[in-house]
Amino acid sequence: MDAEQFTVRAARPEEETAIAALVIDGFIDKFRPIFRGGMDRSIRIMQRWIELEHELGGVRSLVIEDPACGGLAASVGVRLAEPRDDLLSRRLWGIFRQNLGFLRTLWATTLLSYPRHTSSPGEAYVERLVVAPGFRRMGLARNLLWEAERMALEADKRAIGLHVSGNNLPALTLYDSAGYREVSRQRSLITARFLGIRTWVYMRKELLL
Ligand SMILES: CC(C)(COP(=O)(O)OP(=O)(O)OC[C@H]1O[C@@H](n2cnc3c(N)ncnc32)[C@H](O)[C@@H]1OP(=O)(O)O)[C@@H](O)C(=O)NCCC(=O)NCCS
Repeated sequence: MDAEQFTVRAARPEEETAIAALVIDGFIDKFRPIFRGGMDRSIRIMQRWIELEHELGGVRSLVIEDPACGGLAASVGVRLAEPRDDLLSRRLWGIFRQNLGFLRTLWATTLLSYPRHTSSPGEAYVERLVVAPGFRRMGLARNLLWEAERMALEADKRAIGLHVSGNNLPALTLYDSAGYREVSRQRSLITARFLGIRTWVYMRKELLL
């Protein structure tokens, strides 16, 4: 398939479930130990989470459609405005609690609290970048990043940042080739033990005005 056939566009509200399915599938190694016995509820939880990010988190999602069937081939979230962190955390806790019960919620939210990050007002932040397995190595992730950078500039951001796990070679190569540079690293014994992720790399790209 030709890269030109794929168009990046803003996600529609009714696409939150499809994005959630893409994200769970793309990060299944991470989510399986987090949701454990609650995997059957993972898409529902992720869908509500994405909904909250859009409502309270200052995040906008971009998608690329599969031109053959209209389903989603890829997606990314871009934080362009300050999140309402307290409210977001409380509402997210409620969603997890409702679906997984208290102990599993404690477990899941502890693991999901890594990497620690506080966004700065001058910076956009990329999250949950995912391309469906059948569409990889066709330039879709690079196209999503370009559009995210364009949106960041339009929102008067001077830089765009993201976190990537230190063992995610495809993503590290992608970001490096797109001009992102390592700024710092965080280590976590908890995610090393339970997710197999020892290091989180924070990368950033300065945007040219
Ligand atoms: C990482 C991911 C988003 C890349 O998506 P993609 O659409 O396949 O990437 P692109 O086709 O745009 O690749 C652009 C460049 O990234 C690098 N790259 C991408 N996948 C790679 C791989 N598997 N191995 C080595 N380099 C890779 C290459 O430099 C590539 O350029 P090239 O194809 O001209 O050599 C995709 O593999 C994915 O969804 N993985 C699971 C979720 C994930 O890890 N997301 C990142 C979270 S931080």
